[in-house]
Formats: sequence, structure tokens, C-alpha cells
Amino acid sequence: MCCLLIRSFQLLYLLLFLLNFQAYLSSCSSSITQLCSPEVAAALIQFKTSFSIIKDSSWKCDESYPKTNSWKEGSDCCSWDGVACDSIKGQVIGLDLSCSQLYGSIPSNSSLFHLPHLQKVNLAFNDFQFSKMSSKFRRFASLVYLNLSNTYLAGQVPSQISHLSKLVSLDLSGNYYQPLDRHTLEGLVQNLTEVRHLFLNDINMSSVHPNALMNLSSSLRTFNLNYCDLRGKFPKNIFHLPNLKSLYLADNINLTLYIPKLNRSSNLEILDLSFVSSSMELMDSIGNLVSLKHLVLYGANLMGSIPRPLWNLVSLEYLNLGNSNLSGSIPRSLRNFTQLCYLDLSGNYFSGQIPSSLTNLRQLEFLSISHNQLEGSIPDALPNLISLHLSFNLLNGTLPSWLYTVCTMKQIYLNDNKLSGDIKEFQCKSLEKISLGNNKLKGPLPSSIFQLVNLSTADFSHLSGIVHINMFSKLQNLQYLDLSYNNLSLNSNGTSVDYVFPNLRYLLLSSCNVNELSRFLKGSKSLQYLDLSNNKIYGKIPKWMWDVGKDYAALEFISQLFYRF
Ligand SMILES: *[C@@H]1O[C@H](CO)[C@@H](O)[C@H](O)[C@H]1NC(C)=O
Ligand SMILES: *[C@@H]1O[C@H](CO)[C@@H](O)[C@H](O)[C@H]1NC(C)=O
Ligand SMILES: *[C@@H]1O[C@H](CO)[C@@H](O)[C@H](O)[C@H]1NC(C)=O
Ligand SMILES: *[C@@H]1O[C@H](CO)[C@@H](O)[C@H](O)[C@H]1NC(C)=O
Ligand SMILES: *[C@@H]1O[C@H](CO)[C@@H](O)[C@H](O)[C@H]1NC(C)=O
Ligand SMILES: *[C@@H]1O[C@H](CO)[C@@H](O)[C@H](O)[C@H]1NC(C)=O
Ligand SMILES: *[C@@H]1O[C@H](CO)[C@@H](O)[C@H](O)[C@H]1NC(C)=O
Ligand SMILES: *[C@@H]1O[C@H](CO)[C@@H](O)[C@H](O)[C@H]1NC(C)=O
Ligand SMILES: *[C@@H]1O[C@H](CO)[C@@H](O)[C@H](O)[C@H]1NC(C)=O
Ligand SMILES: *[C@@H]1O[C@H](CO)[C@@H](O)[C@H](O)[C@H]1NC(C)=O
Ligand SMILES: *[C@@H]1O[C@H](CO)[C@@H](O)[C@H](O)[C@H]1NC(C)=O
Ligand SMILES: *[C@@H]1O[C@H](CO)[C@@H](O)[C@H](O)[C@H]1NC(C)=O
Repeated sequence: MCCLLIRSFQLLYLLLFLLNFQAYLSSCSSSITQLCSPEVAAALIQFKTSFSIIKDSSWKCDESYPKTNSWKEGSDCCSWDGVACDSIKGQVIGLDLSCSQLYGSIPSNSSLFHLPHLQKVNLAFNDFQFSKMSSKFRRFASLVYLNLSNTYLAGQVPSQISHLSKLVSLDLSGNYYQPLDRHTLEGLVQNLTEVRHLFLNDINMSSVHPNALMNLSSSLRTFNLNYCDLRGKFPKNIFHLPNLKSLYLADNINLTLYIPKLNRSSNLEILDLSFVSSSMELMDSIGNLVSLKHLVLYGANLMGSIPRPLWNLVSLEYLNLGNSNLSGSIPRSLRNFTQLCYLDLSGNYFSGQIPSSLTNLRQLEFLSISHNQLEGSIPDALPNLISLHLSFNLLNGTLPSWLYTVCTMKQIYLNDNKLSGDIKEFQCKSLEKISLGNNKLKGPLPSSIFQLVNLSTADFSHLSGIVHINMFSKLQNLQYLDLSYNNLSLNSNGTSVDYVFPNLRYLLLSSCNVNELSRFLKGSKSLQYLDLSNNKIYGKIPKWMWDVGKDYAALEFISQLFYRF
């Protein structure tokens, strides 16, 4: 799980920080149990009632539910979901209503500003309906943590936010319509002397000169400026910040960047430069960052082979060079990156065979070289692989036997190649996604496929042989099923729906010799996309068909239903 470790690196810091915070909150909870004051409870209730609860507005959250549902007048507000109190003074010092389906705004007269002792506020992933962030936020003089990410705030970030000089973590990300101007940014840089985590990604900063970032606090550990539309020269000083571990600068197309050679060894571990204009000079200087563990140069237009200076980075665990216009053969020296657990070379122009030296990458969990021009066979075993993506190449030969036996494997994408032979029994049940379509593979499907309890994606299009669709009904987690260009046996009969696909969203059955609208569709209430083109279905569309997928807006692909009357 080394890759996951890297990805959650910054969160780990944060978690530690928050855990300390929680520990502090609960440290004396047993000694005094003080109810929060009626005024504070009233302010919270008033804050709650100033919003509607609308489910759709927080679709980005993994888990979202209205935390304010547990807020009931007459009970101790310190026990309410999302509310944290100082156990000695009984003051409300923490409010976490992230992902709570709040829909409304926070005007300057909001009762939120009657809670001056707040130290931690998280309102991320709610819908503030393009309202402006109130300048009253400056009142929270003790605030160390403020998270307003993805809240549909609009209008300038108020300059008063820089008064929150105790902030350790500030997240304003994902509010595309909330520009940050030079004046406010300079205030933040000057006053936030303790800041460790600064997330300003997806904020329009096109009117700011990157120089404004020059004197950032040496406390800074995580700095996210992805998709900020920064233009001009990025200040070199930032690379001298002694504690900086993660720097995200993706998609600032007109940002020019040079990384100075540092006297001490740099501590930078994560660098994302996707779509940043890459020069030879930049590549040279990246080679100085020997501490890097995680490098993303997606879409960087590197041209030719992997730039020489990158080979210095032997500590890399995560390397993404996808869509970066690389060509030639895949270098054997990739084996030098012995720590790699994530490697993405997809969407380039690599040709020739996949070098067998790749099997030296014993840590590799994720490998993608899809959308290239690779020939020859699938490489030898990668014993810890979780996810393999080699789709859209010219690979031939049979499926190697190790594919059936590596029990860490969850995803196999090999569609759109020239693979041949049959599909053998899978020895493990770990697979969640398998895509083998559009090859020259032969059916029948091995029976072990129907025991993959967690299978959610299955593409077995263009197999020769009969496929019994009812077999798939054992796979209750199936969301995507493509059996196009097979001889399909539907086996549906009578009035009862004897098998259903409760979670199926995409069903592709093009050119399958289907001659009836099978009733199993009736039980597939989640269907969003249905391809029945090029079949032999006659007659009227049965009434029940209009209920299919009714949990969703409409069948998006209904125009692809071809009927012959
Ligand atoms: C805030 O002011 C608006 C009018 O500007 C008023 O309608 C609203 O009730 C006030 N809200 C609170 C919580 O006082
Ligand atoms: C802000 O809150 C969201 C939702 O809880 C979370 O995913 C994100 O990591 C938070 N940001 C920071 C900097 O803590
Ligand atoms: C810095 O914060 C202090 C109070 O915390 C405030 O008085 C001052 O105006 C702030 N400076 C800037 C540039 O925001
Ligand atoms: C970003 O802000 C600038 C002005 O500061 C504006 O001209 C531009 O349209 C904004 N971009 C987007 C995508 O809203
Ligand atoms: C950064 O600090 C230096 C030295 O204190 C100062 O000369 C410079 O003007 C500052 N730059 C900005 C953009 O604040
Ligand atoms: C980058 O700058 C060039 C030249 O100034 C300009 O033509 C282009 O539109 C800019 N691209 C973006 C994404 O701002
Ligand atoms: C690096 O070292 C050189 C000489 O050893 C010195 O001149 C330079 O100022 C140092 N740079 C930094 C950023 O410390
Ligand atoms: C890719 O690199 C070639 C040179 O190898 C160059 O001609 C071409 O413009 C590049 N493509 C893109 C999309 O930048
Ligand atoms: C890979 O490592 C070998 C042996 O350590 C070394 O000879 C070779 O130059 C390295 N390859 C690259 C491209 O750095
Ligand atoms: C696979 O393709 C290569 C050329 O790309 C060819 O030499 C080889 O014979 C093919 N192997 C099979 C099994 O078709
Ligand atoms: C299926 O997924 C569940 C939940 O992620 C997991 O606990 C279980 O071990 C998986 N089953 C198999 C056979 O991998
Ligand atoms: C249809 O149903 C009848 C009676 O229930 C049964 O005998 C027959 O085998 C079924 N046909 C198929 C294709 O399942």
C-alpha cells in the first residue's frame, strides 16, 4: 500500500494535527460536564435554520448526511454532531459541518459570528449558492483551521481573511468563482506566519503576480496551487522553504518555473507539474530534487525519451508521465526506480515491446501504459500489482498465466489489443474490474468469473462463443457490463423477473442477436445507458420499458435503440 501512503501524506499531517486537537478537546471531559450556554445553543440553532437541506448539492462527498439533524433544542449542544466544546469553559470551539447538505448562505448578520471562540471551522462541500464570503470571518481571532473548500462561494475573497493570523490550515479550494486578488494574497503571505497547509487550488488567481508568494512562512508544508491560472515567473524562494513537502502547480499553463540548486538537500517529496510548460532547464532543475517521492508531469510535452535528469530521482515511488508526448521504446532503465509503486506512461507514443526488466519493480501496484503503440506480449509477473492498464495497444499473444494467480489484483484493463487464445479460470476473487473486449479472445467465459463477488466492471465484448447473460446476475455489484458482439443467450421467459441487476448502470449489448426486450431489464432500476443497437428486436416497446432506469433522469442512450417494425 505504499502508493496510498504517499497520496495521503499531507492528510496524515493534518490528521495528526486534528487528533491532537480532539485529544485536547476531550482531555478533561469527565471532570466537568457543562452544558453550553443557551445563547450559544440558540446561535447554533439559528445557524442551522438559516439553511435548507438539499441532498444533491453535496454530491462530491464520499459520505454526506445532514449533521444538523442531531441538533435539538434543549439538549447539550456540546453533544451535537459536528460541534466541539472546550471542556473547561464550555465554549464552542469546533464546528465541522462538512458534507452536511447545507444550502443557503452565510450573511454578515449570520449567528455563526456569535461564536467568537471557534478554533476550527469546516464547512466544506456545502452549497452557499454563489454568495460572497463575509468579511466577518475575521472575528474568529483564535481560528487555526478554516475549510471552505467546494462551497460555491463567489466574489472576491475578502481581504480581512488575512487577519486570521493563527491559521495553521486554510482550505479555500474548489471555489472557481471566488477570485483571490493580489492585495489579499499579500496579506495572507505576510500574516499567516504559522500556516502549514494552504489549499488555494481551483481559485482564479489570474490577476495575481506569483511574486506575491515570495515571503511565505517557513512553516509551510503543503501548498496547493493547482488550476489557479497563475501567470509569470514562480518565485524561486518557495523551494528554499525548509519544511515544504508537497507542492502542487498543475495546469498553470503560463507559469514559468525554475527550481534552484539547493545547498542542503531539499525536503520536497511531492511535486505536481501537470500541464506546466516544460523546458529543458526545468527538467534539469527537477533532477536536483533527489528527495522526491511523487512526481507528476502529466501533459508536460516532454518530447522524445524520458528526460535525462529525471533518472537522478531514484527515490521515486509515484511517477506519472502520462500524455507527455514521449516516444521511442520504453527504457529498460526503468528498473532503476526500484521504489516505484505507481507508474503511469499512458497516452504516449511508446512503441516496441514492454521491457522484461519491468518485472524488477517488485513494489509496483499500479501500472498503466495504455494508449501507446506497444507490440509483443504482456510482460512477466508483477507480484504485487493491484491495477494493470494496457488497453489500446497492439499487444498480441495469450493472457499470461500470472494474471489468474496474483491475488492482489483488482483491475485488469487489456481491451483493444490483439490478444488471442482463451480465458482461463481465475484463482482469486479479488477482481473488481476486468476489461478484455475488442481482442481476438475466444469464449466461453470461465465459470470463476461469476464468483467474483466484487466485480463492478466487465467488458467481454467481441468474444466468440455463446454468453449466458443470466450468469452475470450472480454479480450483484455489477455496474458496467459490455457483452457487445457476442452470441447472447438471454434465457428470459414468462412474466416473473427471475434475475435482476440492482446496480447496473451501463449495459452494452450491441450486435448480440438479441430478438426480444428481455424482462430482466425491468428489474434494473439504476440503468443510465443502454446500447441495444444492431439487434433483431421487433415490435412495440413494452410499457414496462419506460420504468427502466426511472431512478435516474432518463436513459441517455435511448436513441441508440434500433427497432425494426
Ligand atoms: C439578516 O439580515 C437580513 C436582511 O438584510 C434579514 O432578512 C435576516 O433575517 C437577518 N438574519 C439574521 C440571522 O439576523
Ligand atoms: C476540507 O474538508 C474536506 C471535506 O471534509 C476534506 O476532504 C479536505 O481534506 C479538507 N481540507 C483540509 C485542508 O483539511
Ligand atoms: C494582520 O493581522 C492583524 C491582526 O491579527 C491585523 O491587525 C493586520 O491588519 C493584519 N495584516 C494584514 C496585512 O492583513
Ligand atoms: C479570472 O479572473 C479574471 C479577472 O481577475 C477574469 O478576467 C477571468 O475571466 C476569470 N476567469 C474565469 C475562468 O472566471
Ligand atoms: C519579501 O521580503 C523581502 C525581504 O524582507 C522584501 O525585500 C520584499 O519586498 C518582500 N517581497 C514581497 C513580495 O513582499
Ligand atoms: C498563455 O500566454 C499566451 C501568450 O501570452 C496566450 O496566448 C495564452 O492564451 C495564454 N494561455 C492561457 C491558458 O492563459
Ligand atoms: C549556497 O552556497 C553558496 C556557496 O557555498 C553560497 O554562496 C549561497 O549563498 C548558498 N545558497 C543558499 C541558498 O544558501
Ligand atoms: C510532440 O512532439 C513532437 C516532436 O517529437 C512535436 O512535433 C509535436 O508538436 C508534439 N506534440 C504535441 C501535442 O505537443
Ligand atoms: C541505471 O542503473 C545502472 C546501474 O546502476 C546504471 O549503470 C545506469 O546508468 C542507470 N540508468 C540510467 C538511465 O540512469
Ligand atoms: C506478435 O507480434 C510480433 C510482432 O509485433 C510477432 O513477431 C509475433 O510473432 C506475434 N506473436 C504472436 C503470438 O502472434
Ligand atoms: C469484496 O469487497 C469487500 C469490501 O471492500 C471486501 O471486504 C472483501 O474482502 C472483498 N472480497 C473479495 C473476495 O476480495
Ligand atoms: C421457459 O419456461 C418454461 C416453463 O417455465 C421452461 O420449460 C423453459 O425451459 C424456459 N425456457 C428458457 C429458455 O428458459
